[in-house]
Amino acid sequence: MTFEHLLVEKQDKIAWVSLHRPKKLNALNAALLEELHHLFQGLAQDSEIRVIVLTGSGEKAFVAGADIAEFALFDAQQGEALSRKGQEKVFDLIAQSSKPVIAAINGFALGGGLELALSCHIRIASKNARMGLPETSLGVIPGYGGTQRLAQLIGRGRATDLILTCRMMGAEEALQVGLVTQVVAQEELLASAAILADKIMQNSSNALGHALAAIDAGYQEGADGFEQEIKAFGQCFGHPEFKEGTQAFLEKRKANF
Ligand code: COA
Repeated sequence: MTFEHLLVEKQDKIAWVSLHRPKKLNALNAALLEELHHLFQGLAQDSEIRVIVLTGSGEKAFVAGADIAEFALFDAQQGEALSRKGQEKVFDLIAQSSKPVIAAINGFALGGGLELALSCHIRIASKNARMGLPETSLGVIPGYGGTQRLAQLIGRGRATDLILTCRMMGAEEALQVGLVTQVVAQEELLASAAILADKIMQNSSNALGHALAAIDAGYQEGADGFEQEIKAFGQCFGHPEFKEGTQAFLEKRKANF
């Protein structure tokens, strides 16, 4: 599938994905969300890809939110459908990806843009990044998982503060509260993402996928994270990468995953 709003480059087992609506600060419209859905479905099946990096095209924005012009005239029913479809087809798909997804936040990550970063597994940011959930200033609330994932990540009090005030958080504050795990100069952002991806790829893809699923289970309604961990732990023993990992340790060599 060819994409209009996504730039995708695959190199050394990493898929580099840039959200690309430069004239609209990469705002998420229906077409872009549809493309993200198809892209992530494809990447899940792509045996050449082990880590995915999401970033924004240009120097100003990761994503400046859901496309306000597109939903401004929606009624209540259309609003609910927009949120449900987006969560199921894109945001949950990314959060539940068995391949690690890194958000490289290169500027504004607002509303749906921050929610997109929140659905990724790890977030790093450039110094100029500005993050927030300004939806209540538009008379709506975050609808792509933001009320849940932000509170899970930085705590209920801080998330409530951001959502109620609509203020933007700078990169240093985001680092302090654990919203991102690294802050670097903008020109070093993608190189830092590559270093992080390389570190991750030293490890067993099978184990990484199970680890992500077990962590995620702890935040799923009705799922038992500890039980999931026990089962996934056991399943690892039946996988060739466990044999390779343990054998490599015993033979005092680096594992070849
Ligand atoms: N939806 C639709 N269009 C958007 C957008 C969004 N979320 N965010 C930015 N754009 C568009 C602007 O309308 C403008 O388009 P135009 O040139 O056709 O008028 C273009 O992107 C550039 O944005 P602009 O506002 O001129 O840039 P700025 O540097 O002055 O301000 C922001 C940057 C991010 C502060 C500002 O664009 C903004 O507040 N965006 C909305 C953020 C938001 O509320 N997101 C949550 C949505 S639920």
